Amino acid sequence: MNKISIIGAGMTGSTTAHWLAEREIADIVLVDIVEGMPQGKALDMLESMPVIGKDVSIIGTNDYADTAGSDIVVITSGLPRKPGMSRDDLIKTNADIVKDVTEKTFAVSPDAIFIVLTNPLDAMCQVVFDTTGLPRERVIGQAGILDSARMQAFVAMETGVSVENINCYVLGGHGDTMVPLTRHSNVAGKPLDKMIPEDRLAAIVERTRKGGGEIVGLLKTGSAFYAPSAAIAQMCEAILKDKNLIVPTSVYLQGEYGVKDLFFGVPAQLNRQGVAKVIEYDLNDAEKDEIKSSADHVQANVDKLAELLA
Ligand code: APR
Repeated sequence: MNKISIIGAGMTGSTTAHWLAEREIADIVLVDIVEGMPQGKALDMLESMPVIGKDVSIIGTNDYADTAGSDIVVITSGLPRKPGMSRDDLIKTNADIVKDVTEKTFAVSPDAIFIVLTNPLDAMCQVVFDTTGLPRERVIGQAGILDSARMQAFVAMETGVSVENINCYVLGGHGDTMVPLTRHSNVAGKPLDKMIPEDRLAAIVERTRKGGGEIVGLLKTGSAFYAPSAAIAQMCEAILKDKNLIVPTSVYLQGEYGVKDLFFGVPAQLNRQGVAKVIEYDLNDAEKDEIKSSADHVQANVDKLAELLA
């Protein structure tokens, strides 16, 4: 059986474990700094397996030795946003946490693929990349599936068409500068602008960009966890089943989309090696400008982080 270790057994970590257990694709290790909590959640989840008929091992632990030999390490440890905070406000605290847990997991799972969820996402991917020295194929971030899924959900609400028919592509950094590509998005092959009036489409784009903040504002004590964790489970499945699935993923770009040496959300093909390929779309000038300003924002964040860590 494959093995996935999830670092951070909070809302996103434990919900990721739940989605993964239902898929029966790997044994699961939930790790947290809080004692007892990951053990309790894992045992509770394990005791639900007979009900849903899935044979997977789920353990909770505070000891990184239990994560040894993982095929995938998912990093969710860190603080979530509170109302009024941007993802960027979390940068220093979460960078220290992410660096620490990366060192501990990488020491015992040198062959793992790392998937990062902790925010600010693109900068935290950089921390894992720098800490491990792994090739870019094996350090990726989850943001784009989530942002695209939010847009798909809003398009489904607007059109009344099944979510299965809706394809949306949101690229760029995971923040307010993200780039929802309306021209490439479609409902069963029909471009969005042929389905949805311009002002309604603009409202969907705006709601997508602010999608995370909308949930934070409602929850008040944390940030979204169902959709982010479902997105991670999809990435894990694509990797372990060697699916060659193309999904928006934060990848360390080396010139694609005119972006260099920076983690940035782009369509990437995922298989057992991690990132097999970055897919490049034809963009018009307006889209290129949006990509550029989103990349500039992520770069500023990474620069700020480098300053804070210096
Ligand atoms: N080692 C291990 N676990 C840690 C550490 C650490 N050094 N520091 C914090 N944690 C754990 C916390 O104890 C907590 O259980 O990380 C967990 C985070 O869980 P939540 O607070 O519920 O936050 P969550 O909603 O899961 O979000 C985590 O993902 O989407 C992003 O913005 C979000 O950065 C945030 C992260």
